[in-house]
Amino acid sequence: GFHRRRGSHEPRARRVLVFPLPFQGLIDPMLHLACALHARGLAVTVLHTSFNALNPALHPEFMFVEVPDGTPAEVAAKGGVMDIILAMNAAMEASTAVRDALASVVADEGQPRVSCIFTDANLLAVQKAAAALGLPTMVLRTGSAACLGCFLAYPMLHEKGYLPRQESQLYTPVPELPPLRVKDLIFSKHCSHEMVRRVLARATETVRSCSGLVINTIEALEPDEMQRIRDELADLPVVLAAGPLHKLSSNSSGSSLLDQDYSCIKWLDTQRSGSVLYVSFGSLASMDADEFLELARGLADSGHPFLWVVRPKQVVDCESESARLPDGFEEAVEGRGMVIRWAPQREVLAHPAVGGFWTHGGWNSTLEGISEGIPMICSPDAIDQMMNTRYVQDVWGVGFELEGELERGNIKNAIEKLMNEREGAEMRERAKQLSKRIACCLESSGSSQIAINKLVNYILSL
Ligand code: UDX
Repeated sequence: GFHRRRGSHEPRARRVLVFPLPFQGLIDPMLHLACALHARGLAVTVLHTSFNALNPALHPEFMFVEVPDGTPAEVAAKGGVMDIILAMNAAMEASTAVRDALASVVADEGQPRVSCIFTDANLLAVQKAAAALGLPTMVLRTGSAACLGCFLAYPMLHEKGYLPRQESQLYTPVPELPPLRVKDLIFSKHCSHEMVRRVLARATETVRSCSGLVINTIEALEPDEMQRIRDELADLPVVLAAGPLHKLSSNSSGSSLLDQDYSCIKWLDTQRSGSVLYVSFGSLASMDADEFLELARGLADSGHPFLWVVRPKQVVDCESESARLPDGFEEAVEGRGMVIRWAPQREVLAHPAVGGFWTHGGWNSTLEGISEGIPMICSPDAIDQMMNTRYVQDVWGVGFELEGELERGNIKNAIEKLMNEREGAEMRERAKQLSKRIACCLESSGSSQIAINKLVNYILSL
């Protein structure tokens, strides 16, 4: 059968194409899914944009095809994620580059027959090009089921007046999407409500017209949310929860756009079990210089061991690429603090020295944290991070939101609560329990493995 692991030289039954949206948090899950499918005997060709182009050397088992996306240089350099999504799709729809690339991959008779293309919900242009060639599109949703539920409900939320959100309504519950409040709905302070609406309407169109949907979540984590999506998308032949995808892939760090600094693993080896707070805000979230300073002071004042990722360009309006740490910081944290530009995050979270995670609540980070049973402090910035935080705190009870300003006193207290107080210990215990339930879903008879089996069978039937 096709479900056993194959040697990489054995002939492959079919080929699948994958075309991720070119941002770190969306590339990773797509390539993890590709690895899982490859391990089940399918050949994989990765199509990727020139923008944030992938490095083929990191995945010798796949074929790579670069597609000129035509995103205007100005938008690519300075635009926010939403600007880039809209501009990239517009440029792709105006040219035949995607269609030509797909046509030539499909026509390659030296390779196994192409069954379908997996793409991101935010690449409607790719789905249209595939449809024009009669190639079925599968959508991978890299966010939570709750997040997709919010995508689908966005027009209703707008119609009923929850959106655009008003300051006086932030804590109003949204009974149509329990347990969310207005504050938790998809939102970005970096662009207008109209722009978010436009992006989500296009993403919804991609989802509604695809041939199958895979969501990077776990049935046990979001049972009601999965049910609501299945009800809403009753026409789709497959709607699968196959996460956490990074746990289904043997290649844990192979698609990072930045170099991962492995020296931190050696440093973690020198730290006491469960003592280190890992601090990272993903690939996109930014902060201003004052917040950065408060964060540094809070970490220094806390007295706790920490590993802190300060990404290039993370601090807005900072003249140099990497933000400058405050005077005296390095001396103050000598021996118990490490600052790096980019971490091998999944390895870090799995390291026994790590006992807490201060995150922006990106969906990948959230999944990676709970998969390792690590409790979290969440500082959500935009998009789906507010709702992810809501689930972490009030549904799964494995962490809490850092409320109030990003200020050294608040930070010190939050770290104390997570790492030293009873409440933190209870969250840690729940996180451990939850990670065990997730591990069960990954066993051969677990829900996520069953989902991958169904997916492979479906792909072979196309
Ligand atoms: C964003 C959104 O926040 C997220 O919720 C959405 O679903 C996708 O787009 P991002 O902000 O980058 O993504 O956060 P996250 O989803 O957490 O993804 C970050 C990824 O980068 C994680 O897989 C993490 O392991 C990796 N990472 C992060 C590193 O490899 N090294 C680091 O130092 C930090």
